[in-house]
Amino acid sequence: MAGGAHIQTIGVSHTYKGGGAKVLGQIDLEIRPGEALALIGRSGCGKSTLLHILSGLSVPSVGKVLVDGALITEPSPSRIMMFQAPSLYPWMSVEQNVGLGLRFNGKMKEAGHRIPEVLELVELGDYAKRNVQDLSGGQQQRVALARSLALKPDVLLLDEPLSALDAFTRHALQRDIRRICKDLGITLILVTHDINEAVMMADRALVLKADPGDIDAEIAIPIPGGRLPSMQEFSDVRRQLVAAYEAAAGLTMAEAQGFISDKSLNAPAPVERLAAN
Ligand SMILES: Nc1ncnc2c1ncn2[C@@H]1O[C@H](COP(=O)(O)OP(=O)(O)OP(=O)(O)O)[C@@H](O)[C@H]1O
Ligand SMILES: [Mg+2]
Repeated sequence: MAGGAHIQTIGVSHTYKGGGAKVLGQIDLEIRPGEALALIGRSGCGKSTLLHILSGLSVPSVGKVLVDGALITEPSPSRIMMFQAPSLYPWMSVEQNVGLGLRFNGKMKEAGHRIPEVLELVELGDYAKRNVQDLSGGQQQRVALARSLALKPDVLLLDEPLSALDAFTRHALQRDIRRICKDLGITLILVTHDINEAVMMADRALVLKADPGDIDAEIAIPIPGGRLPSMQEFSDVRRQLVAAYEAAAGLTMAEAQGFISDKSLNAPAPVERLAAN
């Protein structure tokens, strides 16, 4: 069983090309093998930028990222990123979608045993032949998760992948993703706006402040075993995280949620982002 990757950032700072403001200040961070880490902070503080840098999709303008001691300069199938949209091919079956990562990485020989194995893990064992269009949003996200797991990653990076799902489906996936990563020894890094999600899924949360993005607080989430929002330890950690979030963001959670629910008013439009790059 893999133990998950050990990740270090050393003096990582980032400014997008084109001369804009510094997006990340100085991030010195260590993530233990198999740890589940949440990144939280207000919109635009640099969470996705940091996640891209940790995955190797972006190279920081200053500093470096080491995974198991080796310098990261590009993405790798051992570090898989998942986004809000499951990005499945609608004309393919569940098993064909799950096999795509294997196909792109020249590992189709493994597909015969690997696909049923990962479909079992995400509890879609009976869905292999189904068309992905006939699945619910939560099931489609499970297919995307299975596709990621098929490659036996040692790091899974999630950028708010559950935010489009209803509360019940979301809770089940939070629980299952944490369990799967712990069982398989995968280091999990998760960006979320949802404090409950951080407490459900992570061993530790980093709260980022903006302009430039820096780690403002670090909060351990030492809740052994299954987690439920009704547990006392859950609400204790939740309270600490809300306070840290509010201090870092300079606004109350209620304001933050209003801010978040209408991001379009506050965050630059995609075309502006492209132009700025
Ligand atoms: N490709 C890009 N080119 C230029 N600037 C960018 C680019 N991507 C992001 N930015 C800018 O960097 C800053 C941080 O963006 P980032 O997407 O990392 O924030 P975030 O914390 O993930 O926000 P959100 O919670 O809204 O997803 C923002 O000011 C954003 O406009
Ligand atoms: Mg983001």
